[in-house]
Amino acid sequence: MRLSKLAPILAAAVFLAAFTTIAATPVAASENEEPVGNLAELMRAILFPNSNFLFDVQTTDPGAPPEAGSEDDRSASSLFSGIYTGWKVPQQAALALAEVEPLIMNAERKCENGKDAPVANEDYQKWAKQLTDVAKRIYAAAHEEDQEKVSDLTNELAGACEDCHAVYRKYQDRCRR
Ligand code: HEC
Repeated sequence: MRLSKLAPILAAAVFLAAFTTIAATPVAASENEEPVGNLAELMRAILFPNSNFLFDVQTTDPGAPPEAGSEDDRSASSLFSGIYTGWKVPQQAALALAEVEPLIMNAERKCENGKDAPVANEDYQKWAKQLTDVAKRIYAAAHEEDQEKVSDLTNELAGACEDCHAVYRKYQDRCRR
C-alpha cells in the first residue's frame, strides 16, 4: 500500500528532475535562432570590436571634446560610423557584451573546427555568465560617465575572456576540455 502511494510522488520527482535537466541545458534553437556564424566568427564580430571600444577608455576619455580638424578629413563612411560618439561608444559596447550570452550559449553553435560549442559544460556556462556580469557593471559605469571605473572594470573584462579561452581556445582540440 505504502509503496503504491509513493509511486506517483516518485514519478513526479523523476519527472521534475528530468524537467530541471532540460531547463538547465540550453533551449533548442528555433528556426530564427539558427546561428549564422561559428563561434570564432561571433567572437570576431561582436566580442572583439566591442571589448576594444571598452579597452580604449583606459587611454582616451570618452567625454573629451573631439580633436579639432578631424571632421574635415572624414570620408562618407567614417562620417556615418562617427554619428554616435563620446560616452555612447562604451555604453553601446558594454550593452553588446551584456546581451551576447544567449548567442554564445546557442545550442546549435559550432566552433570553427566543426565541433559543437561546449555549451553543455558548466565551466563554459559559468564563464559566459561572468562576461555578462562584468559587462553589465561596465554598462552602468559608462552611464555614470566614470572613466576610472570603466577602466578598472576592463581588467575584469579581460579576465572574463581569458578564463574561458585558457580552457576552450587552445590550438589543440579547441572547444573541448
Ligand atoms: C564562454 C567562453 C568564452 C568567453 C567568455 C569568451 N570567449 Fe572568445 N573564444 C571562445 C572560444 C571557445 C573560442 C574558439 C572558437 C572557435 O574556434 O570557433 C574563442 C575565440 C575567440 C577569438 C578568436 C577568433 C579567431 O580568429 O580564431 C577572439 C578574437 C575572441 N574569442 C575574443 C573574445 C573576447 C574579446 C572575449 C571577452 C570580451 C571573449 N572572446 C570571451 C570562448 C570564449
